[in-house]
Amino acid sequence: MKNSLIIFASDHGTVEKCAKELFLQMDGKVDLCNLYNRKINPDLSAYDTIIIGGSIRSGKIQDVIAEFCEANISKLIQKNIGLFINCIYSGEKALKQLEDAYPVSLNEIAIARDYFGGEIDNLKLNYLERMITKQMIEQENLIVKLSKDKIIRFAKKMSNLQ
Ligand SMILES: Cc1cc2nc3c(=O)[nH]c(=O)nc-3n(C[C@H](O)[C@H](O)[C@H](O)COP(=O)(O)O)c2cc1C
Repeated sequence: MKNSLIIFASDHGTVEKCAKELFLQMDGKVDLCNLYNRKINPDLSAYDTIIIGGSIRSGKIQDVIAEFCEANISKLIQKNIGLFINCIYSGEKALKQLEDAYPVSLNEIAIARDYFGGEIDNLKLNYLERMITKQMIEQENLIVKLSKDKIIRFAKKMSNLQ
């Protein structure tokens, strides 16, 4: 049976929500690992499939995700890989953010790779964060939403491996 690990980092809950939705949608044994809650990295040798997810702030994925990929790249390139981001841009800009978020060697081998959209909850943001996101949304006329369809498609791709 397939054995999958979803590794993620979430600042205000959107990535966590998407990781949990993937967990519900995927076949086989699936574990979740929130990198913000762990001191010791998970043992990757126990898994054949690894999904990595993070969110974008000022064009960049969280350091904890970038550092995890860099530190484990030799093990990760031997796995079935899925990569996702949460962000509020869509189209070309979101694709560029997705490309920049992960190492080239993982982007090249990823079986599923997508952006799932984003959320802005002003109650969870500080003043500066509210100003930054308000400006982004107004300047680009962004429609801020999550795509459950994309998560379902991603989960199907990752589930249909063997
Ligand atoms: C301060 C700040 C900066 C952000 N910068 C970007 C950005 O550069 N590009 C983008 O597409 N989304 C950006 N976002 C949107 C987040 O990626 C989005 O809110 C996402 O849902 C956050 O997920 P998380 O709460 O699970 O970390 C930003 C959000 C905040 C609060």
